[in-house]
Amino acid sequence: MKNEKYIPALSYDLLTPFYDTAVRLTTREKIFKKALVEQAKIKAGHRVLDLACGTGTLTVLIKNAQPQAEVIGIDGDAKILEIAKTKAKESGVEIGFDEGMSFDLPYENESFDRVVSSLFFHHLTRGNKLKTLREVKRILKPNGEFHVADWGLPTNLLMKGSSYLIQLLDGSETTADSFNGLLPKLMTDAGFEAVEETNLFNSLFGTIRLHQSRKP
Ligand SMILES: C[S@@+](CC[C@H](N)C(=O)[O-])C[C@H]1O[C@@H](n2cnc3c(N)ncnc32)[C@H](O)[C@@H]1O
Repeated sequence: MKNEKYIPALSYDLLTPFYDTAVRLTTREKIFKKALVEQAKIKAGHRVLDLACGTGTLTVLIKNAQPQAEVIGIDGDAKILEIAKTKAKESGVEIGFDEGMSFDLPYENESFDRVVSSLFFHHLTRGNKLKTLREVKRILKPNGEFHVADWGLPTNLLMKGSSYLIQLLDGSETTADSFNGLLPKLMTDAGFEAVEETNLFNSLFGTIRLHQSRKP
């Protein structure tokens, strides 16, 4: 059964245990997540949120890249957070994990230096994308930065064809904005500045694009 509140990592709860293997084998995960962490330029003392952290792979990478940062992962799915907690424990890093929805974040205004997110925005309806972007803006400090990796405009016909499986799995309504390349515009509409595409990676199921933006 599909969940009413959030789309699970591989769309169906039963597939969640296979998520890490699927992503590792199909998305060039190591390379694009490393690039995302590097572009975020996280400094000692920063407070960093991994939005919709899933199994916590990116969250652990962030903490390993900057052990002096406070790192928190949030996700709407309590079950996937258990996988993330185990991963953090096995990696020997201290990370806070919270259960919560992206469009109603349980954090104070202006309380994070960085928000980072990967393979997530294509799970949201247009309305929830905008609500989520406003929430990210609310919790970021002035000049705080938002760094995102997600499916984007395919670079060629082959990438366009490959992306159909993601559309089939996660639903064409939520994925359309991503594959139509609308994320930068939505960030600008939500009030972010210096919105910029920073990198792209072609993978087995389409083109993953990296973006960054700043809260004024
Ligand atoms: C494809 S997974 C990506 C996980 C991880 N960020 C990664 O890069 O591997 C998408 C995640 O978004 C979570 N999710 C979906 N909608 C959400 C929402 N509105 N708020 C919080 N988490 C959500 C799902 O539970 C899932 O863990």
